[in-house]
Amino acid sequence: MVPSHYRLTIVPDLESARFSGSVVIDVDVVEPVDRIELNAAELEIDAVAVVGSGATLTPDHEAEDQRLVLTLDEPLPAGPHGLHIEFRGILNDQLRGFYRSRYRDAEGEERTIGVTQFEATDARRAFPCWDEPDIKATFSLTLVVEPDLFVVSNSSIVEDVIREDGRRQVRFAETMKMSTYLLAWIVGELEATEAVDVDGVPLRIVHEPGKGELTGFSLAAGAFALRYLRDYYAIPYPGDKLDLVAVPDFAWGAMENLGCVTFRENLLLVDPRRATQREMQRIVDVIAHEIAHMWFGDLVTMKWWNGIWLNEAFATFMELKTTDACRPEWGRWIDFGTEAASAREIDALAATRPIDFPVATPDEANEMFDALTYDKGASVLRMLEQYVGDEAFRRGVGDYLRAHQYGNAEAVDLWEALEKASGEPVGSIMDTWILQGGLPVVRVAKIEGGYRLTQRQFELLDGGAGGRWIVPVLWRPVGSADSHRLLLEEQAVVTSDEPIIVNAGGHGFYLVDYDDACRAATSEAYDRLAPLERFMLVDDTWGLVLSGDVGLEVFLDLLENLGDERQPAIWDVVESAMTEIDRIVPDAARHAFKARADAVFTPLLVDLGWAPVDGDDDLVRKLRATALRAAGRLADHDEAIDRSRTIVSSILDGGGAHDPDLAAAAVGVVAWHGTDDDFDRFVERFENAATPQDKVRFLYSLAAFPHERQADEVFRMMLAGRIRSQDAPGLIATMLTNRRVNAAVWAKLKRRWDEVHEIVPEAIAKNLHRGLRALTHPESADDVRQWFAQHETSHPKSLAQRLELLSVYEGFRGREQGGIAEKL
Ligand code: BES
Ligand code: ZN
Repeated sequence: MVPSHYRLTIVPDLESARFSGSVVIDVDVVEPVDRIELNAAELEIDAVAVVGSGATLTPDHEAEDQRLVLTLDEPLPAGPHGLHIEFRGILNDQLRGFYRSRYRDAEGEERTIGVTQFEATDARRAFPCWDEPDIKATFSLTLVVEPDLFVVSNSSIVEDVIREDGRRQVRFAETMKMSTYLLAWIVGELEATEAVDVDGVPLRIVHEPGKGELTGFSLAAGAFALRYLRDYYAIPYPGDKLDLVAVPDFAWGAMENLGCVTFRENLLLVDPRRATQREMQRIVDVIAHEIAHMWFGDLVTMKWWNGIWLNEAFATFMELKTTDACRPEWGRWIDFGTEAASAREIDALAATRPIDFPVATPDEANEMFDALTYDKGASVLRMLEQYVGDEAFRRGVGDYLRAHQYGNAEAVDLWEALEKASGEPVGSIMDTWILQGGLPVVRVAKIEGGYRLTQRQFELLDGGAGGRWIVPVLWRPVGSADSHRLLLEEQAVVTSDEPIIVNAGGHGFYLVDYDDACRAATSEAYDRLAPLERFMLVDDTWGLVLSGDVGLEVFLDLLENLGDERQPAIWDVVESAMTEIDRIVPDAARHAFKARADAVFTPLLVDLGWAPVDGDDDLVRKLRATALRAAGRLADHDEAIDRSRTIVSSILDGGGAHDPDLAAAAVGVVAWHGTDDDFDRFVERFENAATPQDKVRFLYSLAAFPHERQADEVFRMMLAGRIRSQDAPGLIATMLTNRRVNAAVWAKLKRRWDEVHEIVPEAIAKNLHRGLRALTHPESADDVRQWFAQHETSHPKSLAQRLELLSVYEGFRGREQGGIAEKL
């Protein structure tokens, strides 16, 4: 039995946080049936009937597997039927299904809005349906609401009338054929901007009343992305309008409901004069990512959740291309190095998984949304694109989308289209990257007249796994800009008189391990490398330190080359590596560490200038901020701290314009050394922030304070509901990485485990695991492992990875802690 159309009516009652609904589902019965099985969860079923038939259907709600089983007293004959179901539910606080979100209006009154979030498997919490991505149908939604409320859904409004009972009835146009997880509606006291016409597509931003002045930047980014993506795919936008909706409580970052994309407020509403480069880049990214899904994901959808990377890796890849086209000066692909690096870190664990991975349950579907799906996925697509050429790649993608529009597809379908467009053996290459977990390190050894390349699996803890990849290698002699291609399997030999760069361009998802002679030569040639090549050299070296393949001194030596380096992404690697080192430094070596951190970061500040000057571009401002934060937090540099205090005092006193990047860094520095007074003032600012970015910035800074009592206060605020549940897991993770308080935070977390898990939205509970890697103190690490041996999680894969990462950092501590003062 397959459904083809849902006629759905939803009647929300925001006051009482309840809703009722009715649906008529057009189904095509292929063979007579006496049992109908669909999905429903936490819904009361009031009535069930087959339209125009006298058959009795007995509903049986199987809560355990979220199914609704309807047993018929007489078989339903083959042919078309209308299945009519009446139901009721509550607007939950779990940020999934049809849920409530709240905000305070200008008068301080609390307002409730009703919002949906259905991916992966929560449409069934709002209405009974066949809730699987390849059971596509069309939808006609009607909402019945109080007359003064704002409503929005996937398509435009076709009928808007006041009923006899005084309520307003709004009917939305029939959608295209699509998966249930893409349906959405929002009801509440909200406002929309005027529509911008983007070549025939009306684009608006929907937001809390009074926040209209924060929409300009996103409207422009949305218009850019819509045009860019349509041209890239060479397929018209598949909806009839596009609304970008800012939602006060939202589990994820954003969600690609067709024509009705939902966002966290800080990822959509922004004042560009008061936001950092990173915050603005994130906004362009997120908007581009979700709009990219309108085709990749919405128009063509994966068959099943094992293939979710087809959605997410692709949308991420397209997001990067779009942001790079929108603001080329930001060097988006270089910054993506950092995200790809965090995916490589996970992929180098024994607990990694293939990108394409079996999924049976809703929890398993949920767990798929991780760095492997998004960032490894996007990175291997980029590696492939660079190998086959961007024009062939683009044509293949367009062909794939046209061939499967309104339907579902699998990886092989994409590879087939790309093979046709490029003439390259795409399928056999990509199978080695998609169907097996892990990643290779390519070893480069000097031989007579050239170099020999071989591969082995890169693992942070040696498990001896023997993965093999078909590595699409780009390489070039250091003195030449032209790269050569080869497919590395067992081994490859290249001839070159000069030293060579392997992973030329830096887009490959693999590490490079040069033998000593080559390493010296490439380090020597540092200034002649492309930015992403330099990034990879620094990051690979750090990776090899973590795996124990090389000693810390090799990484520290490399830092000597960075005097003229001005790429913020590369300094980000250095900052986070130094932060890891900071964690293992014993008291006796603290002085040496600070001196080293000072020597690394302060020259940057001196060279760039401590304060912004006219003509600084965005990346200079970003780099200055990184340097200030690192000098202030890692080196405890007096002037960095003093200047940060001055900036923060001026911000808190409502003083004039500040360079947003520098201001954000200063907030971080002051928090790191913060007194109780500072803490109170930061809380006050968090609660009365001027922009969504400001709010997030001050909130997260609370996790960076030095004292246990301050961390306690953050917990209290969280448990008292003064911090939105969407932010709780991230905040805890951040406190767990704060070396001064993390042991205490861990103890506290254990004591408050049940309360914490009551407020943390299930779907994002795994974000909390991210902080575990920092609990490497000998007493802590064993305790963490023991705790999790006894406490269940719905995210076992993520937990296993984070625990293994903890062991990796423990190993690093064990190897490098002794004698570290001398190395520094
Ligand atoms: N489809 C996802 C949102 C999502 C994730 C829904 C997991 C259900 C489960 C959306 O397209 C997405 O990827 N959002 C990201 C932001 C994006 C820019 C990386 C997110 O929410 O983090
Ligand atoms: Zn996505």
